[in-house]
Amino acid sequence: MLGTILRIAVLASGRGSNFQAIIDGIKEKEIDCEIAVLITDNPEAKAIERAKENNIHVEIVDPKLFKNREEMDKKIKQILDKNNVRLVVLAGYMKIIKSKELLDAYQGRIINIHPSLLPAFKSSIRAQQDAFNYGCMVSGLTIHLVTSDVDGGAIIYQEAVDISDCKTGDEAAAKILKCEHKAYRKVVASFAYGAYGVTGKRASFIYYPI
Ligand code: GRF
Repeated sequence: MLGTILRIAVLASGRGSNFQAIIDGIKEKEIDCEIAVLITDNPEAKAIERAKENNIHVEIVDPKLFKNREEMDKKIKQILDKNNVRLVVLAGYMKIIKSKELLDAYQGRIINIHPSLLPAFKSSIRAQQDAFNYGCMVSGLTIHLVTSDVDGGAIIYQEAVDISDCKTGDEAAAKILKCEHKAYRKVVASFAYGAYGVTGKRASFIYYPI
């Protein structure tokens, strides 16, 4: 892929602070890629405002307009194909990708960030609060490849965050989120130079030949 700019799609359902971190990473030249499209399932997502402020093309794929989730994912795949997307970045995308066709077509090229040290608090939509309530002193974040096993694809990056000083789950979430932004920038940036090969459950980075 060297020689052509990496085109990415970001899928986000809400606030979009990780999306913003990637936008900033590109502006600050840490990430050598371009965001071809923001895809959202939520017409009210704050991520849409962020895209507009940065002249990023937005596609709203409203689940209400599709007879089932397979049809919705088919539409997403069409958008990815049409925009020549190489990397799909899930950033607070609150839907599970159901379509095998989409997962197969973009195998190894869809990533997600989860705010815990997987497999702890796998599939939780409030993983930081759960970690706090459990009394964990350390939680963190995981960036993984997306497969049909929700939050179960090969891990490509993981970082521990000390939450022992946090007084609430929200405080823990905010502390982890700061680390998420830095980590997602780094991992997205790496795709400009290679990809992650998987043996069993273990992933390792493979540089593209120059
Ligand atoms: C993040 O905590 C991310 O780990 C999880 O959803 C949250 C999205 O936040 N998957 P934002 O929309 O990027 O601000």
